[in-house]
Amino acid sequence: SSQPVFRATTTAPVNIAVIKYWGKRDTTLNLPTNSSLSVTLSQKSLRTLTTASCSPSYPTEDTLNLNGRPQEIQSSKRTLACISSLRTLRKSLEDADSSLPKLSSYPLRIVSENNFPTAAGLASSAAGFAALVRAVADLYQLPQSPRELSRIARQGSGSACRSLMGGYVAWRTGELADGTDSLAEEVAPASHWPEMRAIVLVVSAEKKDVSSTEGMQTTVATSELFAQRVSSVVPERMTAIEEAIRDKDFPKFAEITMRDSNTFHATCLDSWPPIFYMNDVSRAAVRLVHDINNAVGRTVAAYTYDAGPNSVIYYEEKDTELVAGTIKSILGATAGGWDGPFYEPLANVTSS
Ligand code: PMV
Repeated sequence: SSQPVFRATTTAPVNIAVIKYWGKRDTTLNLPTNSSLSVTLSQKSLRTLTTASCSPSYPTEDTLNLNGRPQEIQSSKRTLACISSLRTLRKSLEDADSSLPKLSSYPLRIVSENNFPTAAGLASSAAGFAALVRAVADLYQLPQSPRELSRIARQGSGSACRSLMGGYVAWRTGELADGTDSLAEEVAPASHWPEMRAIVLVVSAEKKDVSSTEGMQTTVATSELFAQRVSSVVPERMTAIEEAIRDKDFPKFAEITMRDSNTFHATCLDSWPPIFYMNDVSRAAVRLVHDINNAVGRTVAAYTYDAGPNSVIYYEEKDTELVAGTIKSILGATAGGWDGPFYEPLANVTSS
């Protein structure tokens, strides 16, 4: 009756794309139509904490608890896909070394918690699936690198593959039909550009009405602008933003970031029926960022929007007062528009 319990705990950060992933070429494997690139945010502000354990004494089913609530793991194909890939890797270790405990045959218990409101409309699935994959990989003592684990996290949520690394992370679309080369890789560590900051403006904490999976499918099937985005716009921007990051060229980084957010939302508007993620308050923040940049006479701030109305604004540490100060004082006072909290400028973008 004193059966062993094996356990591992880990955290994973949120990442916010500056070149957006939008479109799947394979919906089962979560293979993207285009490469994407993100900045990993500080775990001090936004992260998922996950503990994975297993034991021969656990009841037979795997379980997942998210922010104190049991989840329907059996109906989540994506969670099942991640767990089964990890279990297969563990099983092959056990087959090669019979002295290892047979963890792959024990039920798993996964307990996960965000340090930010899940309902805040922030990309919580990226941190969530990245933390799940890392925690189980640690529990199973898998030798796979973060890059190799990104192949598994990708099956949970595409953007999750970018949360296994810190700093500036590219997810390369890959060429193979089985997705084995569709992986994340670190373009530069956070320490390369320590002046980078981000502020998150929560415009609305409501759940988005069109999920990213559904929205992507509509855009891929119906938007006429989309083909051009995939074939030439994104490949050129990937090259250019990697140069901007290498050179720490903020104005160049900022323009590409803002243009790519705008192009992504344009393909949503060009979908049939059209999809709207940004609202009037989001657009007020876009105008304000352009006004600040014009008034200063150089580009000091860059907005980006995911599949929802909340803004993430990037800037450099020296411009904190100018950017975060102005945005807070102007949009913080917008009557009726701004119900969410401001997240303080993130201390830094750090490695996971
Ligand atoms: O990872 P998903 O399937 O939730 O899709 C994320 C899509 C965007 O957040 C809009 C863009 C991105 O690259 O993160």
